[in-house]
Amino acid sequence: MSRPFYITTPIYYVNAEPHLGHAYTTIVADVAARYHRLAGDQVRFQTGTDEHGDKIAQAAETRGVTPQQYADDISGMFRHLWPELHITNDYFIRTTDPDHIEVVQAILQKVFNAGDIYKDSYGGNYCVGCERFLTDKELVDGKCPEHDQEPVFIEEENYFFRMSKYQAALKEHIEANPDFIRPERYKNEVLAMLSEPLEDLCISRPKSRLTWGITLPFDHEFVTYVWFDALINYLTGLGWPSGDNFATFWPAAQHLIAKDILKPHAIFWPTMLMALAAAEERPATDYLYQHLNVHGYWNVDQAKMSKSLGNVVRPLELAEIYGVEPFRYFVMREMSFGLDSSFSEELLVERYNSDLANDLGNLFSRVLNMLHKYREGKVPAPGPEQPEDTALNRLVEAVAREYQRENNQFAFHKALASVWSLMGAGNKYVVANEPWALAKDPEGGPRLDRVLHTLCQLLASVAVLIWPVMPLTAEKMAGVLGLGRISDGMLASVAEGGLLAPDTQTHQPPALFPRIDTAKVKAKAAKAEQKAQPAKPKKTKKQAAAEPPAEISIDEFAKVRLKVATVLAAEPVPKTDKLMKLSLDAGEAEPRTVVAGVAQHYGPEELVGKQVVIVANLKPAKLRGVTSQGMVLAAVDGDQLCVVTPSKPSKPGSQVR
Ligand code: MSP
Repeated sequence: MSRPFYITTPIYYVNAEPHLGHAYTTIVADVAARYHRLAGDQVRFQTGTDEHGDKIAQAAETRGVTPQQYADDISGMFRHLWPELHITNDYFIRTTDPDHIEVVQAILQKVFNAGDIYKDSYGGNYCVGCERFLTDKELVDGKCPEHDQEPVFIEEENYFFRMSKYQAALKEHIEANPDFIRPERYKNEVLAMLSEPLEDLCISRPKSRLTWGITLPFDHEFVTYVWFDALINYLTGLGWPSGDNFATFWPAAQHLIAKDILKPHAIFWPTMLMALAAAEERPATDYLYQHLNVHGYWNVDQAKMSKSLGNVVRPLELAEIYGVEPFRYFVMREMSFGLDSSFSEELLVERYNSDLANDLGNLFSRVLNMLHKYREGKVPAPGPEQPEDTALNRLVEAVAREYQRENNQFAFHKALASVWSLMGAGNKYVVANEPWALAKDPEGGPRLDRVLHTLCQLLASVAVLIWPVMPLTAEKMAGVLGLGRISDGMLASVAEGGLLAPDTQTHQPPALFPRIDTAKVKAKAAKAEQKAQPAKPKKTKKQAAAEPPAEISIDEFAKVRLKVATVLAAEPVPKTDKLMKLSLDAGEAEPRTVVAGVAQHYGPEELVGKQVVIVANLKPAKLRGVTSQGMVLAAVDGDQLCVVTPSKPSKPGSQVR
């Protein structure tokens, strides 16, 4: 029977370009969607972009464009990236879509009418990065631990959502439905949060402070808080409050997020849904989602991925070098769903060579080459069955069951490990049965038929099982094996066995995954980098500095992003007498580190608190082991050097033109 399955990703902020983290979540959602299609379920998969709020307004201002222009630009990048990674979302939502604005206002009005939204005055510590007020408990050394930034104290009148009213009911629901939030560690985290009294949630911002948001329908002086706006996207995309999609898919809703946004999804959202149900006088379970699936974080070089550290991994660059499918396979196999993982290109190459080139690629070509050599490429009718054939067939059935069990629980890495156990078993079976010896044996014909038949069936099963993760490879395998297209609902046939009918004509196998020569990859990457930079005549550094071009165009100048930044901290770089490491507030979510050659002209205490002008889009460079994310401008007169500073205090991040 076809069961509905609705999967969503977070809608991504448009203040940054898509990176590995966004790609991972969206690939997981795609694998889940494809897996359910393969299982014959009725699937809807939604992703999109989150476009209102302080962060976006600030990012647009830094770029000197309107928030809408800015949002259009970055939202477009996300929208266009997904097909390149073979993502098959059914819908792409933007929080600036007119229907979404209508739905948010309708829900606000309903909850307000029911008395669960009220006006009050509030003073608190507001973190711009999180776009919310933080409780004292959440601060570490007076800073937001997520953004390593001191919050700003803000006091103002605002509207509040009676979140506390639903605390007990939510706790009860989670306890009664242990897989409401999974894996378990995140459920426990949420229960720990709920063991303390919940405060009501501030859900508005006065327009005097922020205009880039959805106006409250009951007070036009305010816009709604981004989270109240953003979470509702999951309903808008289905056509709430009516229609077939809403009726079919909302009861089967599952969300997918990383641990960073656990609280909004595990506490704000279900309590909002409970309030909506209460306003409509319906049971809460009519509105509560089925599962919240939470994954861990990708770190790079043991650190959080961030623009300011210059360690952002761009998915398309990797896909271009290694192929989209190996990239999808790597992230799905490498990360244990729920735990953090470390990304490195070396690991990707290792997995490619061992799992894809060796295990899968070799078994595929080995079996098909034998089939062509001994049986003209035709799948033979099986000869009599022996215990080792039965054992291998049973293993395929067992793997198909385990695969479903693990995938249903979002343990995709385990499902893949299980499929790969078939490759090991297949290779052992080849070695044990020695088809090459059977081919020489005048009595070996029926046994060889059985062995080749069993191996072909195994490969056909593997093709179907890897389809959610590597659809093109799966289709290629299926084509070569004469299995035809892999279609929705095909999963059931794997457990039943016999995907290939006797006499099916196969084709010569292509090399699915040619081994990667690591040295070649490095050379290719270096070449690509060279190509990306305009060819320059070779000059010494001194010559180059002495001879800037006589003229540059305004467009060339516009490529340089100059910004005002305030020095937060300064310390000399050890073992040099020229370099100073500066930590700068450049109006960004996190401070930037810039290494400047000013140590012979300024002491650290002279610099702290000073405003400087930086080149903000300079490629990060390592200087004496410190990664410098920009350059400080200074006037140089012979031996004298003084840093350039705005003539009046300016907001950190202000553009210099
Ligand atoms: N706009 C909010 C979400 C609103 S949903 C109603 C938001 N956007 S975000 O752009 O910051 O995206 C956060 C999500 O991106 C994470 O929950 C995760 O899905 C993905 N990731 C971003 N960085 C990541 C890693 N380093 N590792 C894994 N995934 C991460 O929060």
